[in-house]
Amino acid sequence: MTFVAINAAGGPIGSVSLVEHDLPDRPEFAHLTPWVAGTYVVAEERGQGVGSALMRHVVDEAHRLGLPELFLYTSAARVFYERLGWVGLRDDVYEGEQVTLMTTRVGRSPRAPSDRLDRDPPAGVA
Ligand SMILES: CC(C)(COP(=O)(O)OP(=O)(O)OC[C@H]1O[C@@H](n2cnc3c(N)ncnc32)[C@H](O)[C@@H]1OP(=O)(O)O)[C@@H](O)C(=O)NCCC(=O)NCCS
Repeated sequence: MTFVAINAAGGPIGSVSLVEHDLPDRPEFAHLTPWVAGTYVVAEERGQGVGSALMRHVVDEAHRLGLPELFLYTSAARVFYERLGWVGLRDDVYEGEQVTLMTTRVGRSPRAPSDRLDRDPPAGVA
């Protein structure tokens, strides 16, 4: 599902998506789901809280859906997500780019997200 931020005139100025997987060709992350993907705010609207509002909204929606944790990967916006409470799980290289895999707990989920990365690998994946 995709959420779109609109301005006072009703025009789209940003969006964010909640998807089942965002690294489908990386089987070692196949058990991690769902992912926040495609966070984007048009250049002229950045720095006004739109991106943060979109991120808070997608986490609220995940809470409403009963999802315990979310994942994402980023190359350039790690600090943006950290400021919203996301934590880095692993640095990696994806499509030739240095990326950070990040996670956040939703609501009051008692489970440590990093535990999930280490303890629940899919069968047959090292
Ligand atoms: C990242 C992005 C969505 C942030 O949207 P935004 O509307 O500018 O975000 P906010 O206004 O809510 O910013 C909140 C804070 O994070 C900071 N911030 C924004 N983008 C940042 C980034 N890439 N790295 C570090 N800090 C960032 C802002 O400066 C702001 O700080 P402040 O409160 O001290 O002013 C937007 O810059 C964007 O679309 N970038 C291009 C696409 C992109 O990189 N998407 C992320 C893909 S993983």
